[in-house]
Amino acid sequence: MTRNPILLAYQFLQYLLARLLSPSPPSPNAKLNRPRIAIIGAGLTGVSSAAHCVGHGFDVVIFEAGDRSHLGGIWARVNSTSGLQIHSLMYRFFPNIEWKSGYPNRREILDNIDNIWHQYSLEEKTKFNVTVEKVWQDGAGRWTVNDEQYGKFDGIIAAIGTCGEPKVPHIPGQEKFQGNIYHSSELDGKDAKGKKVAIIGGGASAVEALEFTSTAQAEKTFVLSRSDKWIIPRNALVDTVLAMNIFGQEILLSWIPEKLLRIFFYRDLADLAPPSNKGVFTETPMVNSDVLDKIREGSASWLRGDIVGFVENGIRFTQRAQGVPPGGPGKEVTVECDIAIMATGFTRPKLSFLPDDCFAEPYAPPNWYLQTFPPGYMSVCANNCTYVNAIGTVGNYHIGIYTRILLMFLVDPLTRPREGLMKAWIDMTRLFKKRSPTPAFDFFTYTELLWWYFFCVAINPFRWKWALFVFFGIGKSLPMRFVKEEDALREKLDRYESK
Ligand SMILES: Cc1cc2nc3c(=O)[nH]c(=O)nc-3n(C[C@H](O)[C@H](O)[C@H](O)COP(=O)(O)OP(=O)(O)OC[C@H]3O[C@@H](n4cnc5c(N)ncnc54)[C@H](O)[C@@H]3O)c2cc1C
Ligand SMILES: NC(=O)c1ccc[n+]([C@@H]2O[C@H](COP(=O)([O-])OP(=O)(O)OC[C@H]3O[C@@H](n4cnc5c(N)ncnc54)[C@H](OP(=O)(O)O)[C@@H]3O)[C@@H](O)[C@H]2O)c1
Repeated sequence: MTRNPILLAYQFLQYLLARLLSPSPPSPNAKLNRPRIAIIGAGLTGVSSAAHCVGHGFDVVIFEAGDRSHLGGIWARVNSTSGLQIHSLMYRFFPNIEWKSGYPNRREILDNIDNIWHQYSLEEKTKFNVTVEKVWQDGAGRWTVNDEQYGKFDGIIAAIGTCGEPKVPHIPGQEKFQGNIYHSSELDGKDAKGKKVAIIGGGASAVEALEFTSTAQAEKTFVLSRSDKWIIPRNALVDTVLAMNIFGQEILLSWIPEKLLRIFFYRDLADLAPPSNKGVFTETPMVNSDVLDKIREGSASWLRGDIVGFVENGIRFTQRAQGVPPGGPGKEVTVECDIAIMATGFTRPKLSFLPDDCFAEPYAPPNWYLQTFPPGYMSVCANNCTYVNAIGTVGNYHIGIYTRILLMFLVDPLTRPREGLMKAWIDMTRLFKKRSPTPAFDFFTYTELLWWYFFCVAINPFRWKWALFVFFGIGKSLPMRFVKEEDALREKLDRYESK
């Protein structure tokens, strides 16, 4: 037990959240009801969505392409030194998560996913080594996954994430390079002590790789970054304030946080900040407070520019000044290194198992209802896998909210959105964000997401009775009573009409 009062208060808060908001795990051998949901992916989104469904009494099958060691998704496949950059308060992917610290590491994250999986008896409901390649609906709207052997499902939750296989581009001259080349997710056990390291890429993985080289006592690290991204402090308050821009786009006042970041955070390194035409509300920022200090103390250099190719002793690189776009003019230099780390990201898993018309323009992902439901398919919830850029978090309360919106649609026909209305909402959001420098759904903030949910529930009076359930996972029995009455009434009407 910790004696730190802040940590104690945090743990008490977590205890309260768990007691108040965790759905009860089903008793062993409990018979779960329809709707029956197919969940694709056993990362934290898939496991959390499944636990919400069974906790509310609905049956699930989780399909995971990898084997048992892939439980936990991307977190099961990255370095043991990886951890959360954002504060764990913003990474509460299930109500009874128990974080021991503000910034948990990969092991702690995986342990929490594992705990939920066991607690909600999801072992027997998970099919490992099954890649979902196709899902289709019969005339009654029921879904089949891959083939008939798994039975029929009433809904689909696609939880395939955004980080698939490591992306390792071929760079000219790679074969000549005398040193070692690794992907940023494969650094466990690598020795960088006293070596010069070049990191290719300027995203969150590059920042993490820089933490690795620093801990490994590399002589010097060069980050070779092709495009500018904002770095924001690792501070829960700053991150929350930024996420509170409900408009989810650059606004008249955006210059204030940008200016404050340049003056108080970048300070003497303001040249590394993105140019003034690339606002902070346009792309996912990197959350890190140490990287600029490492540059100041000289153990790391952050170079903006384009890779020309590998040479025997390093990388030829065209270094550009601030504001010069990728591919623009610059000074060609050789960055000497013994190790090159490709922090070049991950391939994006494909949603192509969904019906083709989910991808018809102008309503292809991420331009879906609430960014998650393809127009015309209220029974498909692509939870956490359609986003492009955001200020917010991936592993948080919204996983439960999306799951419960899907459950509401499935159990209560009067709450279902029609295709035309789903499209109208998408068009309305586009109109609202017409002046945004990015397409409407290519960037959002967490508060904008909450506004979307509020709007979704408020716009349809039949959804009002579900509000507590959708937002907090409580109070399901009242709307269910209404649904039973409505079903009985509908049956009576059908019988009357058929007479
Ligand atoms: C090193 C690292 C650190 C990160 N840190 C943060 C952070 O601090 N904050 C933050 O918000 N986010 C962070 N992220 C982003 C991270 O991706 C999410 O937070 C979250 O873990 C995503 O979980 P997920 O379950 O949605 O997807 P994943 O964890 O990617 O899981 C998806 C699963 O779906 C399976 N799958 C895919 N396609 C199929 C298919 N067709 N059939 C069957 N199974 C399939 C995959 O095998 C995988 O197991 C980080 C990512 C990395 C790589
Ligand atoms: N702890 C954390 O918070 C954490 C840690 C790691 C990852 N993540 C998350 O995981 C996801 C992936 O992050 P990531 O950093 O791995 O990938 P990323 O955000 O896609 O960044 C990849 C970087 O590599 C560059 N790049 C790609 N191909 C290149 C090439 N051929 N030549 C030169 N540069 C190239 C990209 O430049 P361009 O931008 O110009 O394409 C970009 O700077 C993100 O969602 C991220 O938030 C989070």
